Amino acid sequence: MDDTGLKRLLEKADQYLTGGCLGSFRMPDEVATVFHRGEGSKIYDVTGREYIDFVLGSGPMILGHAHRDVVSAVQAQVSRGSTFYGLNEPIIHLAERVVEASPCGEAIRFNSSGTEGTFSALRMARAFTSKEKILKFEGGWHGAHDYAQQSTTPPEPTDSPIAVADSHGIPRVVGQTVLISPFNDPDTATDLISSYAGDLAAVIVEPFQRSLTPEPGFLEALREATQANGVILIYDEVVTGFRIAWGGAQEKYGVIPDLAVYGKTISGGYPLAAICGRAEILACADPRRKSKAPYTFVSGTTNGNPVSATAGLATIDILAKDGVYEQLYEIPGRLKVGLEAIGRELGLPLQLIGEGPVLQPFFYDGEIRTYSDTLKADSNAARQLGIEMIKRNIFFNINGKLYFSLAHTEQDIDLTLDVAKEALKQVEMGVDG
Ligand SMILES: Cc1ncc(COP(=O)(O)O)c(C=O)c1O
Repeated sequence: MDDTGLKRLLEKADQYLTGGCLGSFRMPDEVATVFHRGEGSKIYDVTGREYIDFVLGSGPMILGHAHRDVVSAVQAQVSRGSTFYGLNEPIIHLAERVVEASPCGEAIRFNSSGTEGTFSALRMARAFTSKEKILKFEGGWHGAHDYAQQSTTPPEPTDSPIAVADSHGIPRVVGQTVLISPFNDPDTATDLISSYAGDLAAVIVEPFQRSLTPEPGFLEALREATQANGVILIYDEVVTGFRIAWGGAQEKYGVIPDLAVYGKTISGGYPLAAICGRAEILACADPRRKSKAPYTFVSGTTNGNPVSATAGLATIDILAKDGVYEQLYEIPGRLKVGLEAIGRELGLPLQLIGEGPVLQPFFYDGEIRTYSDTLKADSNAARQLGIEMIKRNIFFNINGKLYFSLAHTEQDIDLTLDVAKEALKQVEMGVDG
C-alpha cells in the first residue's frame, strides 16, 4: 500500500473508531500509522515500513512477534476449535505451569484480561475477609475498572489516603473504599494498614511499579503489616510475571503475597489473565459454594480459552529454557548504558530506570523512587523523544515504558543507539507540550 492508502485508512479510523484509536494510545498525527504484521523484534506498517518494536503489544510479545513455536501451536489448536466454555487440555496444563512457577501458587482461576484479574482478586479478598476497603499505591496501574482507576496518573501528588478518580463516570462511593499511599514509603503504608485494619480487605501493589523498583524493606513491610492485620496482600504481576524472573517479582524480591494476578506474558499475545495464590482464598470462586459465604462470582465466556492457553503454554515453554533471563537483562542493559551516554554527551539529564526487560526514559537529574518524583521529570521531552524515534523507524512508547523481547539483538540495539543520537538532538527541555 502507498502513503495515500495509509492516509485513507487513518481517515476511516478517525471516522469510525472513537478517538481514531483503540484505547488510551493514539499515535501523534505526525507519526500515525496502521500496522500490518510483526516478525521477531520488528513490526511493519501497511506501507511496508519496518520498525524495531519496543512496545511489543504493550508487553505480551516477550518472545518477539509471530514466534514459530507459538504460531504453529496456535494454528493446530484453532483447527480443533476456538472455544468450548468447558475444561480443555491446554488450560489445565497452563494452570499447572503457572501454579508451579508462582511462589504463592496453590490454585488458579483464569479470565480474559488483567483488568478482570485485579478486579476479581479484590472481590475475592473482600469476600474472604468480610471487609470492604482496599489500599493501592499512587501511580500504580491495575487496569480499567473503577477501583483501579484511582490515583493512577494524578497530575499533582495525591493527598494520601484520599483517592482521586482518573476517569469521569466512576461513582464517588467507589473512591471512598480506596486508600492511596505513596510507593516506596513503608511508614505511611503500614500506618494506614494498621489504622484501617478493621475495614481493610486488601493491599494491591505492582511490586515493581511501572518503572519504579521497590526499595529494600518496602515489600517486606507490606507483607508484615498485612499479615499482622488480617489483610490480603495482592501482587499485580501482569507485567512482572515470568518477565523479570521465572517466578516474577515474588522470586526477584523474595517477598510472597497471598494472591498474584498474571496477564500479558502468560497470554502469548491472546486475551488471557489469571488470579493465582492461596487455595483457601481462591476457593471463594468455587461454584459449589454459591449459596454459602464467602462466595465470589468470577466467570466469563472466554475464561480458559484454549487458543489463548495454547499460546501461553508455548511462550512459557520457551521462557523455561536456560539463559533466557540473562538475555532478557543483558540486551536492555546495553540500551540503557548507550542512551544515557548519548544524553550526557548532549547535556541532557536522560536516565533510564526499570528492571531488566522493562525500562523507561526520564529527563530528570534527581533520583526517581516515587510517583511524585516522576512528575518532576520533563514529560514533554520524553514525548518528543518518542516521536523522534518513531519518525526514524524505532517504535518507542510515547512517554512510557520500553519493553524488550528475546528477539531483540545487539544489532537492534546498535541501530537504535545510532538513531537515538539524531533523535535526542531534536529534544528540547523545558518546553510545554
Ligand atoms: C500492572 C498491570 N496490571 C493490570 C493491567 C491491565 O491489564 P489489561 O490491559 O489486560 O486489562 C495492566 C495493563 O497494562 C498492567 O500493566
